[in-house]
Amino acid sequence: MKGIILAGGTGSRLNPLTKVTNKHLLPVYNKPMIYYPLFTLKEAGIDNVLIVSGRGHSGSFLELLGSGAGLGMHLSYEVQEEAGGIAQALGLAEDFADNEKIVVVLGDNIIEDNISEAVDKFSNQSSGARIFLKSVKNPKAYGVANIVDEKLAEIIEKPENPPSDLAVIGCYMYDSRVFEIVKNLSPSHRNELEITDVNNYYLKSGELEYDVLNGFWGDCGESFDSLLESAHLIKDSRLAKMDNHLNLF
Ligand code: G1P
Repeated sequence: MKGIILAGGTGSRLNPLTKVTNKHLLPVYNKPMIYYPLFTLKEAGIDNVLIVSGRGHSGSFLELLGSGAGLGMHLSYEVQEEAGGIAQALGLAEDFADNEKIVVVLGDNIIEDNISEAVDKFSNQSSGARIFLKSVKNPKAYGVANIVDEKLAEIIEKPENPPSDLAVIGCYMYDSRVFEIVKNLSPSHRNELEITDVNNYYLKSGELEYDVLNGFWGDCGESFDSLLESAHLIKDSRLAKMDNHLNLF
């Protein structure tokens, strides 16, 4: 399976921290933000990874991470010319994916759990997609799961009245059909191609599975508070010591 880290966007919610650099290069406790999703993938045995970033800062990612050899990974890079949403950025990874199944992680998501087990389950899933849910205090800020009779019925993007406290986190597993699905999406009211629409497509065709995370999850790009909270949680977790597993420096 191949990995894709989406590290584009303008990072407007963290302005002015993101005025001259990309959000995913900002420090989160003792490492640049993008190291955490890289570690998540590496730990799950996925070391062939494409990083999609915006035009202005793609050189900085290359400078920071190079070929990935220092991390024991093989990194490739793709440039998103204009911010058009998560699903639009994902669409740029079609050639890289080359009909394999993929694991996509948003570059600002911090996942404490080891996702290996879920990745293994997805390898054995004949087709479709797989997502992660996590109980959160402020579901309005995310895609939220509507669970009816213990079954996932729908995902609603940033709902005014959340049907549950279960956020859909920024880590998604897809079969190779995802790129056709992305091509048929229409822009949302925020003029973006929404990843939630991709997930709802799989859900409607009865092919969306999910796991619930136990450990903490942080969306560092959501607000200054989430950035700060993630740093504190990392400080006291195994993620602060990932250098023992990766040759980072
Ligand atoms: C995106 C997704 C949302 C998801 C979140 C996780 O939100 O649209 O469904 O819950 O990432 O980080 P955005 O960061 O684009 O507001």
